[in-house]
Amino acid sequence: MENFEVLVKDSKTYLKVCNSNEVFEGKGKQIIFEGDDDFQLAIFRVNSKLFALENICPHRHADRIFEGIIKEHTVMCPLHGWTYSLETGQNINQKQGIRSLKNYDVFESDGYVYVEKPQFEIPKWRR
Ligand code: FES
Repeated sequence: MENFEVLVKDSKTYLKVCNSNEVFEGKGKQIIFEGDDDFQLAIFRVNSKLFALENICPHRHADRIFEGIIKEHTVMCPLHGWTYSLETGQNINQKQGIRSLKNYDVFESDGYVYVEKPQFEIPKWRR
């Protein structure tokens, strides 16, 4: 995570991931960590509120959650429609699948977006 500035707040570690004006209302933004395509988050702004989720869909491991279709407080993967809560990352249609996305704290300060330092795991297919 060495490429992002670190901020410690309330004994939690956050990373400065982008400028606030790079996250548009009703859209997602892809953030790649350490230049590694398996370590990604999607930041969303919906009704002026920010959300941060893993960007890799657990269905077929596509890094497309940031391009998902936002409806109320959910985001639907654009590939096959698995749908997740923006607030919690929970898969909201258990008929499609039970796997969810991790969610992370996110906030804005002085024109920048800060996200809780993610704990990425090496995916199974790389072990
Ligand atoms: S890859 Fe996301 S629903 Fe299939």
